[in-house]
Amino acid sequence: MTQQDAQQDKYQGKDNKLPTRALGAQGLTAGAIGLGTMGMTMAYGAGDEPGGIATIRRAYELGVTLFDTAELYGMGTGSNEQLLGRAVRDFRDDVVIATKFGFDMSAPQNAEGYALNSRPEHIREVTENSLRHLGTDRIDVLYQHRVDPDVPIEDVAGTVGELIAEGKVRYLGLSEAGPDIIRRAHAVHPVSVLQTEYSVFERAVEAHVLPVVRELGIGFVPYSPLGRGFLTSAVKPAAEYPADDMRSWDDRWQPGNYEQNLAAIRELTALAAAKDISVTQLALAWLLAQGDDIVPIPGTRSPDRLAENVAAAAVTLTPQDLARVQEILPKGAAGSRYPEAIMPSW
Ligand SMILES: NC(=O)c1ccc[n+]([C@@H]2O[C@H](COP(=O)([O-])OP(=O)(O)OC[C@H]3O[C@@H](n4cnc5c(N)ncnc54)[C@H](OP(=O)(O)O)[C@@H]3O)[C@@H](O)[C@H]2O)c1
Repeated sequence: MTQQDAQQDKYQGKDNKLPTRALGAQGLTAGAIGLGTMGMTMAYGAGDEPGGIATIRRAYELGVTLFDTAELYGMGTGSNEQLLGRAVRDFRDDVVIATKFGFDMSAPQNAEGYALNSRPEHIREVTENSLRHLGTDRIDVLYQHRVDPDVPIEDVAGTVGELIAEGKVRYLGLSEAGPDIIRRAHAVHPVSVLQTEYSVFERAVEAHVLPVVRELGIGFVPYSPLGRGFLTSAVKPAAEYPADDMRSWDDRWQPGNYEQNLAAIRELTALAAAKDISVTQLALAWLLAQGDDIVPIPGTRSPDRLAENVAAAAVTLTPQDLARVQEILPKGAAGSRYPEAIMPSW
């Protein structure tokens, strides 16, 4: 077998045995790499529903079981949840469907994005919509998408706890919550998963958030684990993305930051090439090496890129590799991950 054939096999997942990881202490488990569906309908230019469905089905064949959607990803229409529900219809009982509430999609978007709404009656209404859009009788993980300063987190955890008791939801998740909120929610109903941005580019969770989830036995799901596509061989300058692609305004792509971050990608790519893997696989393997309580959810609309990403679970990084990554990016990327107006505070 030539090296190219071996690489192709690896990307197509033939050698891949995606291991299972536990998320939290309540019994939730998932394949070590999940799939985020956001880009299939929003955020990175035109969505791609047929590509999305093919990617979700390929993911299942390769051992991916955690699929991540949200009310927000359909911009209030339910389209992203419907796409996921359709794609997993034939194997729904084998997979973990995670979705999120927390915004008021009926109010107009402003500079701070959609208004927040985690009031108990709204959580119940959004959950019923999500169940209908997904075409399922239960949501495996229900996340609060953003902390709502107007609603005590105890009320939020209590409401999701009631939905769990009613059999409509299986596990409670939080997204972008800080240590105090995590502790308060967990005291009312056990939190199984925290989801927040984490990658070699974005390291803020390491200081105060990861220690708390580990202390409480909560699983961690890094979102945007590929730095929204910067940690790939496909990155290009901000001006080359269409206006409906958020990378056209993301700070990490802006002149100055972009060149600095690209230099880091070139060094990471050299390290990856020496290991006969892609830079994307290096980025995912680095996350998996941070702890066996971690299940990243890279997003893609392509079955082939999905196979490349899943094959990262078979990569072993040595202590020297991890030290080299640290040397290349000691503090993560240049530039902020969100504009000030929508930056979660924790
Ligand atoms: N809780 C939250 O607030 C929150 C926020 C953001 C995201 N999320 C979740 O996290 C998931 C993943 O995050 P994300 O989609 O923002 O960012 P990401 O996974 O870091 O990057 C996605 C981008 O990388 C590209 N890509 C993926 N694999 C690639 C490969 N092997 N080679 C080249 N390019 C590749 C994708 O393009 P293609 O599609 O063209 O392959 C897409 O543009 C989302 O789908 C969503 O479920 C949650």
